[in-house]
Amino acid sequence: MLDVSQAIATPPPHANGAISRYDYRPPAWLVPDTRLVFDLDAAATRVTATLSVTRNGDHDEPLRLDGAGQAPLAVRVDGRTVDDWRVEGEQLVVPLAGAAHSVETEVEIAPERNTQLMGLYASGGILCTQCEAEGFRRITYFPDRPDVLSRYSVRLVADAARYPILLANGDPVDAGTLDAGRHWAEWNDPYPKPSYLFALVAGDLAVNRGSFVTQSGRTVELGIWVRAGDIDKTHHALHALKTSMAWDERVYGREYDLDVFNIVAVDDFNFGAMENKGLNIFNSRYILADPDTATDYDYDAIAAVVAHEYFHNWSGNRITCRDWFQLSLKEGFTVYRDQGFSADQGSAAVKRIEDVRGLRAAQFPEDAGPLAHPVRPESYLEISNFYTATIYNKGAELIRMMATMLGPQAFRAATDLYFDRFDGTAATCEDFVACMEEASGRDLAQFRLWYSQAGTPRVAASLAHEAGEGRATLRLAQHVPGTPGQPDKQPMVLPLRIKLFGAETGRALIDEQLVLLDRGSNTIVFDGITERPMLSINRGFSSPVIIESDRSAAELGFLSAHDDDPFARYEAMQQLMLDTLVAATIEGTPDHDAVVTAVSNTLADGTLDPAFVAEAVLLPSDSFVGDQMAMVDPDAIFAAREALRRALGKRLADQWREAYERAPAGPYVYSPAAKGHRRLRSVALGYIAASGAADAAALAFRQFEAADNMTDRQGALTTLANGHADEREAALDIFYNRYADNGLVIDKWFQTQALSSRDDTGRQVAELARHPDFTLANPNRARSLVGAYGANQRAFNAADGSGYRFLADQLIALDRLNPQTAAKLLPPLGRWRRFDANRSALMRAELERIVATPGLSKDLFEQASKSLG
Ligand code: TRP
Ligand code: ZN
Repeated sequence: MLDVSQAIATPPPHANGAISRYDYRPPAWLVPDTRLVFDLDAAATRVTATLSVTRNGDHDEPLRLDGAGQAPLAVRVDGRTVDDWRVEGEQLVVPLAGAAHSVETEVEIAPERNTQLMGLYASGGILCTQCEAEGFRRITYFPDRPDVLSRYSVRLVADAARYPILLANGDPVDAGTLDAGRHWAEWNDPYPKPSYLFALVAGDLAVNRGSFVTQSGRTVELGIWVRAGDIDKTHHALHALKTSMAWDERVYGREYDLDVFNIVAVDDFNFGAMENKGLNIFNSRYILADPDTATDYDYDAIAAVVAHEYFHNWSGNRITCRDWFQLSLKEGFTVYRDQGFSADQGSAAVKRIEDVRGLRAAQFPEDAGPLAHPVRPESYLEISNFYTATIYNKGAELIRMMATMLGPQAFRAATDLYFDRFDGTAATCEDFVACMEEASGRDLAQFRLWYSQAGTPRVAASLAHEAGEGRATLRLAQHVPGTPGQPDKQPMVLPLRIKLFGAETGRALIDEQLVLLDRGSNTIVFDGITERPMLSINRGFSSPVIIESDRSAAELGFLSAHDDDPFARYEAMQQLMLDTLVAATIEGTPDHDAVVTAVSNTLADGTLDPAFVAEAVLLPSDSFVGDQMAMVDPDAIFAAREALRRALGKRLADQWREAYERAPAGPYVYSPAAKGHRRLRSVALGYIAASGAADAAALAFRQFEAADNMTDRQGALTTLANGHADEREAALDIFYNRYADNGLVIDKWFQTQALSSRDDTGRQVAELARHPDFTLANPNRARSLVGAYGANQRAFNAADGSGYRFLADQLIALDRLNPQTAAKLLPPLGRWRRFDANRSALMRAELERIVATPGLSKDLFEQASKSLG
């Protein structure tokens, strides 16, 4: 019998200065009510905060308020100015005698000088806030921790011409004018909330209004606030918001609770968006869309992020996190919820494929590298560094596994119980799992290891057949690799959806089974199997693991054409492609036949959704191939992949042409079917170009010029950007000039060039960094060039180390402006263990240079020092 209690209870050692999960103590003082008055000005904003505080329990502790980057101008207790306070580090310490007091502080802050984009800052003339995780302390003094819930009332005062719109959380109460051209607005949020959900916005904004009637018949006023010129680009987001509200009522029984719900789009934002109560603030890239400027991918991402932030109203706001170690409680669950929403809007199979591709591109490498951490981390230096693919996407997979094991009814009963029991509180991951257990009667003791053990489990699967006995035997063995601080792991619970198909007839030999692998190894026997069986395993990606099976190319090819689970078909094809590429990279003996045949069959299958076909025929990325190998040879991988692309392009030339022409003619529409056709068309164009066809550049340029939408235009531009034809520069210039005043599209222009497969991409990126439109001050722009380059495995890992040097230079410069965004871009340098001695020495040297930089932020220091290992 497995003993899991030890793994859960023993605190692992943690680095000096780090905050440990085991140090949690309830707050010494509570703050039932908070009154905030803002005298807003970009250069100098005066903030007066009045906190009603109550002693929590029997103790003599003073009141400790977090504050960063300001100094108290005045402190008053129960209306009287006091001077027995002191500042200790980043805390204001106020001795208090009684059980309840009113504590008032006054500070002055300078939003226009806030380049970190945390706290109150200016974005293109708009004043806005970002408080998660610890930004509120940069606005005023407060116990800035998620388990202190307070009712906020807020007064905003500002110049009426510059800031005609004044928004805050909750419902609007009143507004009026003052002399000297100033005006004011009062907002009240009746729901107690942690400080990280506080928000305000002041600016010259236009609104696209809508309304939603909830299931209990209340009308909610909706508003999407943007610059006046962008109002025509808000319809998709507003529609997505209404769809999300209806979906959460139908699927989770969750109804919205305030009279208004506002969303504001700003251009400078560290993340995608933020779920502030009743006042979501978004990176404009996740709001603004019209066919001419946004791709289908952008449209889908907008709907997903609007849904994600809206869903946080329950999974995050009504129920929040006790401490930041519980971050996945809200993020993993909310990602799971938004994935379900998106799956219901179009093809669920394609959505699952996209999500798994994302997990493999971002989370698997994290889990396999120096920054690996559990879904519930044990310690951190800087919490911003833990807004990771592990917390978000692996966290969502944990919820998905529980949903799979419980089944839909018990899972819904469990979420109902969770929402009901913890409403209005700050909860833990443990609380969530306990609800799953209680509602289902299932024991999840061992399953909890998923929260505490980092690393991606590997499952070896092999199927034997004794024809005479009519018996098939499946042997499964799991191994969880060591990760930093966790050398030894215990076996996890892996729910694996399994099915067997006949090798000759292709028919299903058994009904699908859910196998729970909860020991190191296990053997499962299937009787009545008279035909040689083929294994379909981890269908739907039921567990976030790596399957190592001994299936042959022939079996994978067969499953890619005949499995009845679309994800499993995709997966068989991916495995076949990976096996082919890894063999070609290591042995240099490319055998393309099996992949060519499988792709040909998929293209020829008229019953398939074109969106699925487009996903299925796409080769795994360079970096995903690299992730399969102990030693990454970026040039060899690139060459092997290009050779396979060329072979596919040439040998299936007619089929690519046919797929390219197949898309129905006619003007742009946004629908799942139309999106699928566009996607397949761009993929086909890519293969036509890869074949070396003489007319490929002309074809791409024609598509570029004729396009009536950004998807087709950018698809063509990507193909041209990878090549050397004259049309390349022409298209890039046309694109740039056409969209010179649209920052989001100019981001695409930078990104497309940074992702190019040309061998001079490194030089081009260095040149683009000197382009007048390039700036590190805008996170989207920084990511579009520096982030994209870091994701371009072959270009970034140039043998002379120029990519590493470039990235380190940019990160050091960016760290002075915006540490959070700098730290997010560091991980490509941490892959050094996987490269040859020359490259790893060059990468380490850059990491050391970063760590040695005077005045480095905690954010970048934590990521760089951990990456050195
Ligand atoms: N809670 C936000 C989300 O998941 C994440 C977020 C927005 C964030 N802005 C941030 C996290 C700034 C850290 C820092 O949608
Ligand atoms: Zn979130």
